[in-house]
Amino acid sequence: MSRTVDEIKEKVNIVDVVGQVVQLKRTGINYKGLCPFHQEKTPSFVVSDQRQNFHCFGCGEGGDVIEFVKKYYNLDFTEAVEKLASQYNIPVEWGKGDHGEREELYKINREAAAYFYRQLRKGPNPGLTYAAGRGLTKETLHTFGIGYAPDEWTGLYDTLKAKGITEDKMMKLGLISQSGKRYYDKFRNRLIFPIQNTAGKIIGFGGRILGDGQPKYLNSQETPVFQKKNNLYGLYQSKAEAVKEDKIVLVEGYMDAVSLYQGGIHNVAASLGTALTENQVRLLKRYTKNAYLCYDSDEAGIRAALRGMDIFQAEGMDVRVLHVTEGKDPDDFIKQRGKEAFLDLMDAALPYADYKIKYLEGQHDLSTDRGRVAFLVDAAGVLARLGPVEADMYTKELSDRYGISRDAIRREMEGSRKERAPVPRRQDPEEQTVRTPMDLTEKLLIKVFLTQQEYLDREAEWKDAIQSDSGQLIAAAMQKARAGNAGAAGSTPDTPAPGQLDERAVLEQLDEQDQQVFLSIRDGMPAPADPQGAYRDCLIKAKKALLRKREQDLIDRLALADGTVNKEEVDRITAELIDVQMKLKS
Ligand code: UTP
Ligand code: MN
Repeated sequence: MSRTVDEIKEKVNIVDVVGQVVQLKRTGINYKGLCPFHQEKTPSFVVSDQRQNFHCFGCGEGGDVIEFVKKYYNLDFTEAVEKLASQYNIPVEWGKGDHGEREELYKINREAAAYFYRQLRKGPNPGLTYAAGRGLTKETLHTFGIGYAPDEWTGLYDTLKAKGITEDKMMKLGLISQSGKRYYDKFRNRLIFPIQNTAGKIIGFGGRILGDGQPKYLNSQETPVFQKKNNLYGLYQSKAEAVKEDKIVLVEGYMDAVSLYQGGIHNVAASLGTALTENQVRLLKRYTKNAYLCYDSDEAGIRAALRGMDIFQAEGMDVRVLHVTEGKDPDDFIKQRGKEAFLDLMDAALPYADYKIKYLEGQHDLSTDRGRVAFLVDAAGVLARLGPVEADMYTKELSDRYGISRDAIRREMEGSRKERAPVPRRQDPEEQTVRTPMDLTEKLLIKVFLTQQEYLDREAEWKDAIQSDSGQLIAAAMQKARAGNAGAAGSTPDTPAPGQLDERAVLEQLDEQDQQVFLSIRDGMPAPADPQGAYRDCLIKAKKALLRKREQDLIDRLALADGTVNKEEVDRITAELIDVQMKLKS
């Protein structure tokens, strides 16, 4: 793979590749054109022949030729390399160590899927009867590779064993279980839904019991190639349509996804029996920025929608919610009412703010003043997350509908924004972060500062240990108060002695919320007997916490890298992970 990449970089000229889709004009040593990644009238998209890269000064997109192909054609890394390689007659070489064990695990999963598929297709059997009973066509079974695990103990085990696959690997993939010295198939008497990643590799399975029984769905455990929170069922089949339609429908169940697909909604994917995650949203964002959450209309479905919407909104996606009516799920709905009725539901789906406001209307008694005020406060919190134009539109609408003054709504929005105001140190107007609470380590550090204020000067040591917004604001206020007080001569009852921290000066710099936090640390926490030891302890604890966070982050990225990132990147992440884990041990 890496040789292919090297060869592409050597032989393919980015000006040529970009020039196929963007009209470029020579300007000095560079080329210029209209950026294909955002709307513009004057060219700010520059391609450098010399550096072999592109950069847009308007939207900030940039990168090398592979990056361009990835972005423009919406491909993952491997796909982009393959596209360029085939276009320029460069042989694609998959180096040996490249894929290693992962490839082997994928292959075994594929063997297993083939076995399940054969079982379903070989003459009449309970699996086929069940599938037919649920209205699945041959074509659909084929598209999703749906199979059948017969009611036998070792059908799959024997098949894989005969192919020389070790028990160790089968166990690792969760295909078999062990009891004493005997191994047996984990999926039995179930309709099998193979779960594919976006590159089409089979990463796990979901098995539905035929008829009633527990558990209704049995899913592969988390394995080296299967992380529920990083994947979506059906996306492999639906991603092309998601790009074409520029929208994706997200449902909760395997059957819902398959059934909508069969009903003509080809841009559909399902979460895998867990709450929606950030990584899943990022995955979708590769294909489209418009998501339709389609959940059951029961309380759990509404709660899932409210949470899911926030994740989409935070990732900058446009998200709408639709609930299928009459207590049906999407599967029932499309079977009974058809594609057109479902498209109508999509048309009527409520955007973020409408959905949240409608929900809040139901939560408050709007016939009383009290209820309306409470509603207003909550609704203002929703509007505060919108852009100014949109927020203004909703402000007017709410004001008209409920006879609340626009100013009152705006004041509430201001209040709500302040509560979540980002700290100045990493201020970003685009980003509205929720204010994070202080953890115990941070509070202890502040407590130490209160008696050993000279530590406040050793910012380089403790800077990373204070991550919360409140903690940073309080520490900054204490530093300022100390600096402001350092040279003060003499003391009166009102001004503290030199070298002593002026707590009033600290409080003056904080808002009410942080004042309370500060006072509760001052008055509510016992002073450490050994401040120096406590200080050191805090630093070590904080360092560990940071490393652990980094570790999780790297693990997530490795999981996400699945088949879509080049080997160098995977190696780099792995090396850092090993490094982090060694540091954590020592
Ligand atoms: P549902 O129970 O809503 O499934 O669970 P469904 O799609 O309507 O199932 P059918 O129509 O009865 O076949 C939704 C999703 O939750 C996960 C699965 O991913 C399922 O698709 N789930 C549900 C499990 O993982 N285990 C279970 O026991 C049940
Ligand atoms: Mn169902």
